Amino acid sequence: MPRSAVAIALPPAELVAVSAQLAEAGYEAIAVNTAEELEVLLSTRRDIGVAILDGENDFDRTIEMYSLLHEEDRNIPALMVVAARALDRMGLAGRARVSDEYFTRPYSAESLRWRVEAMLIRAEVPTDDSTGGVIDTEPEPGPAIDSAESRRGQIVIVFNPKGGVGKTTIAVNIAAMLQIRKGQRVLLVDCDTVTGHVASSLGMENVRTVADAWTDDLSSGASETFSEIASPHTSGVSVLVMAESPLHTEILEPKRVAEAITSARQAFDWVVVDMHPDYGPLNQVIFERADKIIVPVTPDVPAIRAAVQLREVAVELQIRDRLAMVVNRANSGVSVADMERTVGMPALAEVRSAGMLFVRAANEGRSAVERFPKEKVIDDIEQLADRMIATAEPSVAKTGSGFLGIFGGGRNTNPSVRAS
Ligand SMILES: Nc1ncnc2c1ncn2[C@@H]1O[C@H](COP(=O)(O)OP(=O)(O)O)[C@@H](O)[C@H]1O
Ligand SMILES: [Mg+2]
Repeated sequence: MPRSAVAIALPPAELVAVSAQLAEAGYEAIAVNTAEELEVLLSTRRDIGVAILDGENDFDRTIEMYSLLHEEDRNIPALMVVAARALDRMGLAGRARVSDEYFTRPYSAESLRWRVEAMLIRAEVPTDDSTGGVIDTEPEPGPAIDSAESRRGQIVIVFNPKGGVGKTTIAVNIAAMLQIRKGQRVLLVDCDTVTGHVASSLGMENVRTVADAWTDDLSSGASETFSEIASPHTSGVSVLVMAESPLHTEILEPKRVAEAITSARQAFDWVVVDMHPDYGPLNQVIFERADKIIVPVTPDVPAIRAAVQLREVAVELQIRDRLAMVVNRANSGVSVADMERTVGMPALAEVRSAGMLFVRAANEGRSAVERFPKEKVIDDIEQLADRMIATAEPSVAKTGSGFLGIFGGGRNTNPSVRAS
């Protein structure tokens, strides 16, 4: 049964705004004032997917409610709304692999709704940590809606034909965010065989590349998959580099690479691909396989022009509906609506300018998500991750009722993400 009702224990003004947003998104919002009310609700309704609790006021009541959510075999994720300073003091930022989450005041009801949507999706997605992040065999897809088919990961590529717009930065940090804070299994692929620096920016030297592995396979007769070749980063993200040198890439036959990326969806929830800025044969086959193409655009004429060109190319390749812009270095006075109009792509999120944070994190071989978890720019990355999760396509066509089905079908009323 889809868990599409949300219990809310917030002060009246917040309750009204949040309930309105959730109702607009198609969820039933149910106010609860006391632990007793919550108890009655939980015993009569099985479809409460998330409870939003107030982590600041009347903390005793909150604790009582929280334990009701996790009593016996019940495990309903809580979204705890707190002040940013409280979160800092509790040292809770950046916790991994828990289904409860925190949301800091002040907030907009709309951003809270995005978070709730993402939590509801995660609650519906069966994750099996006992496989150590790898599913070896995929059961035959049966008639059931939640077959292994629907667990296939999403292929997200990060592309803009212009260099320096933040492709690598966004690929690395979105991968870390999904893995660390969202409990997702992530394969981060550096497909930039010319100037790729995913591994070096994560402090990983001399990793075995796909070109190395496939060359070895020629003599050994083996045929290694991407999850076998990938190297683990300390963040938990599996990192895969195509080639160390821009020469000797003949073995990276585009079709074979595309097949390998597609197969990796069985072992990972997300395959995030950082691309070299070109429209060559390798990139074209990868475009074809992508579920979503994230296009970082900085608010300057060359980057906007490059994105407009990409939009035109995408029409020809029939992938235009997969494009989603991320306005990078967004706090420069240009409005997102203007950028959407000019570029002709819906914006998925904005990432502010972060000074030297990304460079400093890379110098230490870590993502900024790990190194600077409390910085505002990481909130931006988190919002991007939440939107990616909330707008994820079911990877296999279902009859409209799969776990992602509840999020499909034009309910999206946020103008900044409405498909153009
Ligand atoms: N939002 C941002 N704030 C600050 N610096 C950024 C931001 N986005 C990217 N950068 C920096 O800009 C430079 C180019 O980014 P990069 O991700 O390598 O671009 P691309 O992969 O598109 O060539 C890097 O030094 C990176 O640290
Ligand atoms: Mg790059």
